[in-house]
Amino acid sequence: MHKFTDFVQQLEQRFSDTGLFPEQPIGLYEPCRYLLGIGGKRVRPALCLMGNEMFGPAGDDAMHAATAIELFHNFTLVHDDIMDKAPLRRGKETIHAKYGLTAGILSGDILCIYAYEHLAKVKNHLPEIFKLFNKTAIEVCEGQQLDMDFEIRNDVTIDEYIHMIALKTSVLLACSLKIGAILGGASEDNADKIYEFGKNLGIAFQLQDDYLDAFGETDKLGKQNGGDIKANKKTYLLLKAIEAANNEQKAQLDKLLKTDNDNKIGDMLALYTATGADKHCRQAVQSYSDMAFSNLEEIEVSDAHKQPLFELASYLLQRDK
Ligand code: IPE
Ligand code: IPE
Ligand code: MG
Ligand code: MG
Ligand code: MG
Repeated sequence: MHKFTDFVQQLEQRFSDTGLFPEQPIGLYEPCRYLLGIGGKRVRPALCLMGNEMFGPAGDDAMHAATAIELFHNFTLVHDDIMDKAPLRRGKETIHAKYGLTAGILSGDILCIYAYEHLAKVKNHLPEIFKLFNKTAIEVCEGQQLDMDFEIRNDVTIDEYIHMIALKTSVLLACSLKIGAILGGASEDNADKIYEFGKNLGIAFQLQDDYLDAFGETDKLGKQNGGDIKANKKTYLLLKAIEAANNEQKAQLDKLLKTDNDNKIGDMLALYTATGADKHCRQAVQSYSDMAFSNLEEIEVSDAHKQPLFELASYLLQRDK
């Protein structure tokens, strides 16, 4: 069995391939090469390859699907950074900040189309995989819309938040694993179980992303922290802070949500700590991870076959980027 780091090495080679995109027009493809070339953790394509190896020997199909998934993920990031007005990604300038809004829109579009180009190379189980990929892509867009809708709503519930992050983030992790598993010859039951594992892992992953956006360090994260606070994103931290706040803290929160001054981030972080929202968020990461671990246990393969996914899930829990 290969480890996450082995797959990442293989994937780094894949995404540094200069033949991944045509040369011309440079304005369209240079931003794509730039984004793929500045790294990223490669979690989703690695999950696809790991799901594949859990059930069968690695083949070209899994690599085509993994490539499609990472290109699709990068497409969502480019447009997400426009929507979230983010200046930094992977420690470098975001595409729209570096190359302009047109490049952000069109290079994002082309990444999505190239994702389908690679998916179409899959030889086995293509109709089933295509259906799952499309369903997932639709859900991601729906989740992203809800994320934006929530910025201007002040009555978002924790359940609505979990539903939103399941759509915008976790279904793509789940889909990556399931596509890999299907290509490895997994039974329908095991393919569904690995999907559930991915779903809970993905929720823990986005909860952790929200936590790091607030409490992480820009240098490590490669993204500007505090962006969620500035945009009034309805994160678990904010919703828990609202829920746990006393009257005085509630008034402070209300006021902060209406301001956009330099102290907003620092003041909000102080409230997250004072209300215990930071601890609640860490607990939620842990409890969704625990659910993911128990989903993993249910899959009917040997423990040795589960070990790499177990290690990856543990790494994601502790990550600082
Ligand atoms: C960022 O995903 C978007 C989220 C769903 C939180 P990653 O944290 O996997 O980003 P990269 O690919 O490693 O840069
Ligand atoms: C992004 O969520 C989810 C997708 C890109 C679909 P975030 O907006 O929290 O991701 P980051 O923090 O910018 O990576
Ligand atoms: Mg976003
Ligand atoms: Mg964002
Ligand atoms: Mg984020």
